Amino acid sequence: MPTYTLMATAAMGLEAVVANEVKNLGYECQTDNGRVIFQGDESAIARCNMWLRSADRVKIIVGEFKATTFDQLFEATKALPWEQYLPKEAEFPVQGKSVKSTLFSVSDCQAIVKKAIVERLRNKYRIQTWLQETGPLFKIEVSLLKDKATLTIDTSGAGLHRRGYRIAQGGAPLKETLAAALIQLTNWHPDRPFVDPFCGSGTIPIEAALIGQNIAPGFNREFVSEEWHWMGEEVWENARVEAEDVANYNQPLDITGSDIDHRMVDVAQKNAFEAGLADLIQFKQMNVKDFSTSKEYGVIVGNPPYGERLGDRPEVEQMYQEMGQALAGYDTWSVYMLTSHEGFEQFYGKQATKKRKLFNGFIRTDYYQYWGKRPPRQKD
Ligand SMILES: C[S@@+](CC[C@H](N)C(=O)[O-])C[C@H]1O[C@@H](n2cnc3c(N)ncnc32)[C@H](O)[C@@H]1O
Repeated sequence: MPTYTLMATAAMGLEAVVANEVKNLGYECQTDNGRVIFQGDESAIARCNMWLRSADRVKIIVGEFKATTFDQLFEATKALPWEQYLPKEAEFPVQGKSVKSTLFSVSDCQAIVKKAIVERLRNKYRIQTWLQETGPLFKIEVSLLKDKATLTIDTSGAGLHRRGYRIAQGGAPLKETLAAALIQLTNWHPDRPFVDPFCGSGTIPIEAALIGQNIAPGFNREFVSEEWHWMGEEVWENARVEAEDVANYNQPLDITGSDIDHRMVDVAQKNAFEAGLADLIQFKQMNVKDFSTSKEYGVIVGNPPYGERLGDRPEVEQMYQEMGQALAGYDTWSVYMLTSHEGFEQFYGKQATKKRKLFNGFIRTDYYQYWGKRPPRQKD
């Protein structure tokens, strides 16, 4: 099998989490500007799409070169071996972006790249007429950053956050990829209790259950590269067989999601059911200030309201304060909260052990981490 240069794209701040996931799948990688770069064959494309929990997409880097003129962009694009990826009937829309580059007109860059690939394919496939583009989809991107052009083909199709289980949602759902990253940034282990007291549509508890039973997040969806002749059906078949083999459906889990709004509890239950995880997660209606437990060494991960609208602030601040009081006595529990409210620690009543800057979409947030006591070591 040939080797491709692959790129897993990640939201700002999540590169290290995605890199860790790529390494865990067995691929050495480097990170750079929201991208995790690694080498792999067709099975790497299938496995990474199937398994990466926190990445946005998996792309093939077809070529990278310096381009400050349209001629350079055209010639260097045309010199790349597009026929190795695209069959003669391929449909290939070209998208673009340009940051800090001489070639700043994105629409012109897209048109030039399209023209160069058309010319290359017409030569290679000896086609005199227009390309029909009636075949499988290859979404191409030309991305210019400081005059360096990177040409990629998307292998995922719908973004990897589309796991296929979200049939309903509330006002401000968290992206599944970010939820998975938040969990992986904690010290949670599947034998410890896990709670999301602001569960909304259930994204965090559902992602925790998938992680807890080692279920591949892409198991229930399709990917655009499944339609590509050179990927081979057995590559995908093998990736699905592997996912089934390593899933640990016998792992007991203690995962709870609660929300003050009973309608959100219904929504979360529906989504968990769709994910096939309804039996693994307890959902209930509860105000965070009423949290109480007799369990120990649990992990709480929450995405509370941020109070972004000025009018909501006092209410949110009071809620943070009540949460801080409700959770104060549980020193074996670790608490992780994602919010854009800069005064969170003040209202919660405690300085975080650690803070991490993350973006929830375009909102700059901090992930406040309060580490609880470590569980005692188990004797052999
Ligand atoms: C930003 S949303 C959470 C979204 C969720 N992570 C998802 O992916 O759908 C915040 C949630 O907190 C809930 N909430 C607000 N105040 C609360 C309180 N005092 N106790 C518990 N839940 C509360 C809201 O009903 C809302 O569903």
